[in-house]
Amino acid sequence: MDSQTPFEFLSHRHSVPVRMLADPVPDDAVLRQLLTAAARVPDHGKLVPFRFHVLRKPAIDRLARLTLEIGASQGRDPDKLVKQAAAFGDARLTVAVLTHPRQDSPIPLIEQEQTAALACLSLVNAAQAAGFAGHWLTGWMARDADFLRAGFGIAAPEAVAGFVHLGTPRGHPPERPRPDLDAITTWVLE
Ligand SMILES: Cc1cc2nc3c(=O)[nH]c(=O)nc-3n(C[C@H](O)[C@H](O)[C@H](O)COP(=O)(O)O)c2cc1C
Repeated sequence: MDSQTPFEFLSHRHSVPVRMLADPVPDDAVLRQLLTAAARVPDHGKLVPFRFHVLRKPAIDRLARLTLEIGASQGRDPDKLVKQAAAFGDARLTVAVLTHPRQDSPIPLIEQEQTAALACLSLVNAAQAAGFAGHWLTGWMARDADFLRAGFGIAAPEAVAGFVHLGTPRGHPPERPRPDLDAITTWVLE
């Protein structure tokens, strides 16, 4: 973050594609700090409706294999499967952020899933703030019953809110277009 103020950081924060994430990746001690920061999210009902699965090689390669095997068994497009598996192949450190909703709670499922999503963004931001970078991906694997069972031993309504890949950025990704504030903002004055 260097000499950036927190506001400057938030104004320029960004992801780095997993193919541009290299070693070194956070060690366990640093990762615990990043996860602690990522878990500090707004949470209606204080349900903590998310879980972290920390994956290093070769556990990440197992997800690549499952993507190819399960995807093929379901007749998915082979070219897309190769690309989706390659993201796991490129990754050195992946945190699967799982939704862990409480069904006996009056808090709507969508709000619990939103809290899990906040943890994904916070993890990407925490990584960048600590001098690393992150990339939040999903794909069909995030909600597919076969993949969730084989990969994580979970079933709906649990799912993957995000595969958050972490590492050291190799170069600067091009800035992507950002929303036109005036096109998305209505100032309601009375
Ligand atoms: C819920 C969610 C799922 C995403 N899944 C994918 C994905 O599967 N593949 C992909 O290329 N990008 C995916 N993205 C987008 C990437 O995270 C993208 O790099 C990101 O929007 C970059 O924005 P940033 O630079 O503002 O962080 C996803 C984003 C979100 C919020």
